[in-house]
Amino acid sequence: MSASGPLRAQAARVLAQVLAGRSLKAVLGPAEARIADPRDRGLLHAIVLAGVRGAIRYRALLAMLLQKPLPARAAPVEAALVAAFAQIETLQLPAHAVVAETVAAIRALRLEAFAGLGNAVLRRWLRERDALAARLDDNEQAFWRHPQWLIDALRHDWPGDWQRILEAGNAEAPMWLRVNRRLGSRDDCLARLQAAGLPATAHPQLPDALRMDPPQPVTKLPGFAEGRFSVQDASAQYAAQLLDPQAGQRVLDACAAPGGKTSHLLERRPDVASVLALDSDPSRLARIGENLERLQLRDTNVELRSGDAGDPSGWWDGRPFDRILLDAPCSATGIGRRQPDVRLHRRADDIADLSRQQARLLDALWPLLAPGGRLLYAVCSVLRAESEAVLTPFLARHPEARVLPLAVERARRMEGGVAQCLPEPEGGDGFAYALLVRD
Ligand SMILES: C[S@@+](CC[C@H](N)C(=O)[O-])C[C@H]1O[C@@H](n2cnc3c(N)ncnc32)[C@H](O)[C@@H]1O
Repeated sequence: MSASGPLRAQAARVLAQVLAGRSLKAVLGPAEARIADPRDRGLLHAIVLAGVRGAIRYRALLAMLLQKPLPARAAPVEAALVAAFAQIETLQLPAHAVVAETVAAIRALRLEAFAGLGNAVLRRWLRERDALAARLDDNEQAFWRHPQWLIDALRHDWPGDWQRILEAGNAEAPMWLRVNRRLGSRDDCLARLQAAGLPATAHPQLPDALRMDPPQPVTKLPGFAEGRFSVQDASAQYAAQLLDPQAGQRVLDACAAPGGKTSHLLERRPDVASVLALDSDPSRLARIGENLERLQLRDTNVELRSGDAGDPSGWWDGRPFDRILLDAPCSATGIGRRQPDVRLHRRADDIADLSRQQARLLDALWPLLAPGGRLLYAVCSVLRAESEAVLTPFLARHPEARVLPLAVERARRMEGGVAQCLPEPEGGDGFAYALLVRD
């Protein structure tokens, strides 16, 4: 067995679990934590991400190369082959080494009976690569590496941009930091990073945002453990700025876990009267606590609670809020480059369910807003079904709700007061915002 055979075997195991329906985040983090060498860890990460992003294409390729589908017990072999295609085609690793490592991985997975088949499949692909690529590219899903329902929805919603959105979903995500200005200025943070030989660029419109070029493992960045910054996408950093709570106000963060936006609100305005950080998932609620701890925000007036935002009778004390953030559960189609497994796991029918759920949460939270108060609706989605189609009927049902204009760089203005960010190669993710005021 070659030295890195086991690494490819680990990558195949992780990928097989994602292909079987498990969340990428849930399986990749623990697998990375078991690898001591940072270079091996980085390679595992790159192989799994490229495999998940390319899974639709590479499964179609595999179907062309196999006479009959692999049996269920050979799922890790399928994953090892998908990973091999991704390593050669996407990561551009040397083909002969990848073939040898993949065959070694299949043996290490105790699926020796498939080692010869794996070798033959990869060698045939390398011989017939151009002809097979031409056939693959005729298949729209294989070409765009996204499911047909999502390609169709994006083409419908964004006739001039859908290809750009799909390309963004297949690319590496930029890394954005959010500086905790309670503990030091953005310039200080930039200077520390530069002194450590880690180049970063300030965002032109977001006062806390820095882009790391190239992305780095967070543990390599000076100041992370002391809470000097967080990793948070640029588009997500608009939430605290748009909601703009003032000193002494009561704030509700209705879908708060893991606390990215709760902590940003508190970093900017530790002098609010209170922030209630609510989430329906108690295990995710614990993550908010850990983030507040690291960011040294435990001394602020924040309360963590588990509860259904759609049923305030279970957790509301009856006193209105001046600011409400509804960062609603959504399709995550705006962050496909960060969570590429979403395209494998979501189904077309989920979108209508999510849209109904978003409308339910909005209707339930609206009465909790004080007169003159503001509610910010946010989703990391690029589908109109989760933005315009939620807001427009809501506004028709609630004449006392008025939309406020939003200053969001490069965002599209849409119906229902929505500002839509599309994913940008060196910018933020796809995100939709709408800010409502209660007259
Ligand atoms: C988009 S995430 C929130 C991200 C978070 N605001 C941040 O910035 O870190 C949506 C969250 O909504 C929670 N959620 C889903 N349905 C909910 C409900 N009915 N009530 C409260 N929280 C809910 C999920 O558990 C999930 O943590």
